[in-house]
Amino acid sequence: MSPEDMPPPLAALLELTHRCPLQCPYCSNPLELDRARSELPTETWLRVLDEASSLGILQVHFSGGEPTVRRDLEELVRHARTLGLYTNLITSGAAIDRARFEALAQAGLDHVQLSIQDVDVGEAERIGGYSGAQARKLTFAAWVRESGLPLTINAVVHRQNLERIDAMIDLAVALGATRLEVAHVQYYGWALRNRAALMPSREQLDRATSAVEAARERLAGRLAIDYVVPDYHARRPKACMGGWGRQFLNITPAGKVLPCHAAETIPGLAFDSVLDRPLAEIWQESAAFRKFRGTAWMPEPCRSCDYREIDWGGCRCQALALTGSAEATDPACAFSPHHAIMGLLAETESRAPPPPFVYRRMSAPRS
Ligand code: SF4
Ligand code: FES
Repeated sequence: MSPEDMPPPLAALLELTHRCPLQCPYCSNPLELDRARSELPTETWLRVLDEASSLGILQVHFSGGEPTVRRDLEELVRHARTLGLYTNLITSGAAIDRARFEALAQAGLDHVQLSIQDVDVGEAERIGGYSGAQARKLTFAAWVRESGLPLTINAVVHRQNLERIDAMIDLAVALGATRLEVAHVQYYGWALRNRAALMPSREQLDRATSAVEAARERLAGRLAIDYVVPDYHARRPKACMGGWGRQFLNITPAGKVLPCHAAETIPGLAFDSVLDRPLAEIWQESAAFRKFRGTAWMPEPCRSCDYREIDWGGCRCQALALTGSAEATDPACAFSPHHAIMGLLAETESRAPPPPFVYRRMSAPRS
């Protein structure tokens, strides 16, 4: 396919800032965070939204860090809405007051995704490294429901909170969410550093999967539940990002355009910036997007595998982290010669006592 024939991405994740009042040890942000002084100014983000719309993108996710620490968020949401883009806010809910939330709703926000760390308040605040966060989150969820906006709860689960999965599902119902995403930690960024502290055992995973299946049945029509399983216990990889450079792009606070949030860990890839090239040109032509797009780059066993246009060879960043080569078949796949590593790591790390968390520290002012 020639670059101009490449269909546009469905969605763009705009990481407006890496500043955040929480310090979750599984944050998907890179270990080297962009400082506030390197963040794109408002006028550049407005231009990026224009370019996203012209490219044919349908949805924009305002994310971070914590996107509500950007004082221009209302302006960005309003502009995106004017362009006909579907706008989603991905937030901790811990750095925003009611007036600000109402201004965002007025600006045309379409949907809110709120993260929770746990249902146990002490544990939630230990994991997020922010005392007082839970009450703020619950209050924020109430504002969202009162505004009539649809609410999704994102619950990231791991060995230190999985026992309370039923209570997390109940909390999502009590908060009036229409969707719950139960996502086992994926090991990139800070989570890779904290893997041993987060890795669930096979038994924990199986209990959680049964709890989700039972809740899906019980709550059909009231709460949709998405379930992201942990690769380390899998036999088939996920189609990471829907396939490299096929459906999504990420823009970092400083303006680099990435095929996925962890792509900067891959050595030798150069990422174009929205400061230097139009978004459409980056999507279609940048070397980083073309590197693993499609199937031509694949080695065996992917090259001749029937699943190659289903999972697109899994995750390049995970292949790099566990085999030392981003070109390798994702070791989450049972056909990978490295597959045994994952099961062994999961078994060993989940059985040992969890080490202390290494927190992601780059704080933002609390409102
Ligand atoms: Fe997917 Fe490659 Fe495994 Fe086949 S061999 S299932 S394409 S990761
Ligand atoms: Fe980078 Fe999966 S996180 S390809």
